[in-house]
Amino acid sequence: MYLNKKGKVPNQAHVGIPEGLCEEEHGREGFAGPVSHLYRTHPPTGWVKIEGPLKPRAFACAQFSMKLTPPSTARQILMMQSQDASLYVSIHTATMVHFIRNADGDETYFVHQGTGRFETDYGTLPYEPGDYVVIPKGTTYRTHVDAGPSFFFLIETPEAIMFRAGGCLISTFAPRPLESDPEALRVPFYHRNTDYDEVLFYHEGEFFSRAGIQPGMLTLHPQGIHHGPQPNAVQAAKGKTYTNEVAVMVESKTPFIVKPEMETVEIKDYAMSWSRR
Ligand SMILES: [Fe+2]
Repeated sequence: MYLNKKGKVPNQAHVGIPEGLCEEEHGREGFAGPVSHLYRTHPPTGWVKIEGPLKPRAFACAQFSMKLTPPSTARQILMMQSQDASLYVSIHTATMVHFIRNADGDETYFVHQGTGRFETDYGTLPYEPGDYVVIPKGTTYRTHVDAGPSFFFLIETPEAIMFRAGGCLISTFAPRPLESDPEALRVPFYHRNTDYDEVLFYHEGEFFSRAGIQPGMLTLHPQGIHHGPQPNAVQAAKGKTYTNEVAVMVESKTPFIVKPEMETVEIKDYAMSWSRR
């Protein structure tokens, strides 16, 4: 395999993009493997209308905490499901009365809020915001909540998780310095994730490529549909040297079916947010 280029293009991807052009990346294996780049005169997200349910969607999951009714101490809300992963919001207001065991799959808890410990067959594991806790299939456990509520983003996979489980990939966007070359692109490039549905759970920090995204929100970009930085984000990112954003990305080879309850916390019109200036 060798580099082949045609037309008005930079010498290197993401650096020195010719004035007035937008870069778009196509890959097949999520964000690994070979890719190709197109240089367009307009952002590929500038659609004026979308029909049907297949579109970028955003949800304010944190609003589920307010809907929690006592006396339940733990509530799990199934947000969306594919053959490769089920995604939940799991809210624990107090120490669980019972121990539980999941015989269907591995559970990966990402701690969004709260501190406490998991009491398991294998001993105890303390948790705090930003931690991942993996509970392998068949492990008996409960959560002990220090100061509630604890808010988890929970990923259940039928296959054993090693941050890859069958057709499910889990990755972390962590605080990091940005590219220092003045010509380098500092916001995520426009792309289609051709083979994976892409979910992002926003944990903390400032999500500089996305307008109106707050911690505790979740977005879904179905496979094959363009997305990338919001208008003005490219300009706003030019002076930035560092990002403090923390987010969890879950990619699923099979499409996610969104549960009807999610419509109660949906940010309407998110799919058109690239068209607004
Ligand atoms: Fe993406």
